[in-house]
Amino acid sequence: MKAVQVQEKGGDFVLVDMEKPSPKKNEILIKVEACGICHSDDFVKQGAFPGIEFPRVPGHEVVGIVEEVGENVNKWKVGQRVGVGWHGGHCFECEPCRRGDFISCENAKISGISYDGGYAEYMCAPQEAIAAIPEELSSADAAPLLCAGITTFNALRNSGIKAGDVVAVQGIGGLGHLAIQYASKMGMRTVAISTSDDKKKLAEELGAHHFINTGNSDPAEELQKLGGAKLILATAPYAKAITSVVDGLAIDGKLLMVAATGEPIQVSPMQLLMGRKSVAGWPSGTAIDSEDTLKFSAMTATKPMIEEYPLEEVEKAYDRMINNKARFRVVLKP
Ligand SMILES: NC(=O)c1ccc[n+]([C@@H]2O[C@H](COP(=O)([O-])OP(=O)(O)OC[C@H]3O[C@@H](n4cnc5c(N)ncnc54)[C@H](OP(=O)(O)O)[C@@H]3O)[C@@H](O)[C@H]2O)c1
Ligand SMILES: [Zn+2]
Repeated sequence: MKAVQVQEKGGDFVLVDMEKPSPKKNEILIKVEACGICHSDDFVKQGAFPGIEFPRVPGHEVVGIVEEVGENVNKWKVGQRVGVGWHGGHCFECEPCRRGDFISCENAKISGISYDGGYAEYMCAPQEAIAAIPEELSSADAAPLLCAGITTFNALRNSGIKAGDVVAVQGIGGLGHLAIQYASKMGMRTVAISTSDDKKKLAEELGAHHFINTGNSDPAEELQKLGGAKLILATAPYAKAITSVVDGLAIDGKLLMVAATGEPIQVSPMQLLMGRKSVAGWPSGTAIDSEDTLKFSAMTATKPMIEEYPLEEVEKAYDRMINNKARFRVVLKP
C-alpha cells in the first residue's frame, strides 16, 4: 500500500510503499477513504509528543471501510463505514478505565502517534476506538469531525453553557470553524475571534453573530461590550492570544482551552476571583463521543469546509494548514 511517513524528528513527509497491515486480535483493518490533517499532526512531524517513535504514519481523522476484522471482533463487520479519531484505544484496566473514564486511560493509545494512522491506503485500529459513520455524511466531510469536530462539540456540550449565552470561539481554523457552527446550533450567541478580517464573511456564514478582529481591536473589551463571555473556547495555539481574552469573561465565565500549546498563558488570581471565573482544558473524547458528534452534525447539517488533496500532495496540503491558508480543513484522499 501507499502511505506517508515521517521518518525522523522534523523530517519531511515521505511517500512510501509499505506492506498492507493485518489486524491483530481486537483490531480492525480499515481501507482509508479520507483523512483530515489536524494541527496536532505537527506533534508527529516535530517529534514533539512523548513516546513517539519513527518512522510513523500520521493521521487521526480517519474514515474508511472495514476491510477485515481480527480475532475477537464481533461488533464491526466487513464493508461497514467507520472512523477513528485521536483517542486510539484504552486498556480497560487502569483506574480511570475502571471508572469508565476511558479518555483519561493511563495507557491510552493515540492513532497516528502510538501506531500508524490514516495518511495511508490502509490502517489498523483497536475495536474500542472505532465509530460508526452516519449515511448522511460523506467520508471526506466526516473525517474532520473525528478530531476537530468531536473536540469542539464535546468541549461545548460539557462546559455548562445555556441557550442564549455569549460563547466566543478564538481562532477560526479546523477546530474553530466547526465550533462556530456547533455553538450557534446549540443556541448560543456566538462570537468569532480572529486575527484579521479575512475570515469575517465565512465566520458569519457559519453562524457567528459577532466577529472580533484582534488585529484592530482589543478582544477583551469587545467581549465586555456584549456583556462578557460565559465561555471562551480557545482553539488558536498561541499563548499571547489566549492571554488577551481572559478579561473578556463574564461573571462565572470559563476560558476553555482545546488549543495545544506548551507555552504558558498569563492570568492572575485577581482576574478570576471576583467574578468566579475559571480557566480549564479539554481533551477530545472517545469513540462514543465521536458517534454523538457525527449524529449531531448529520441532524443539524453541520459540515466542515474542506479542501481535498491526494496522498501524493501531502506536503502542499499540510502547508495549507500550518500556514493558516486552509479554509478550513485539508483532507487527504488516498
Ligand atoms: N484538545 C484537543 O483534544 C485537540 C484536538 C485537536 C486539535 N487540538 C489543538 O487545537 C489547536 C487548533 O487546531 P486546528 O487543527 O484547528 O489548527 P488550525 O486549523 O491550524 O487553526 C489554528 C488557528 O490559529 C489562528 N492563528 C494562527 N496564527 C495565529 C497567531 N499568530 N496568533 C493567534 N492566532 C493565530 C488562526 O485563526 P485566525 O486566522 O482566525 O486567527 C488559525 O486558523 C492546535 O493546537 C491543535 O493541536 C487539540
Ligand atoms: Zn486532531
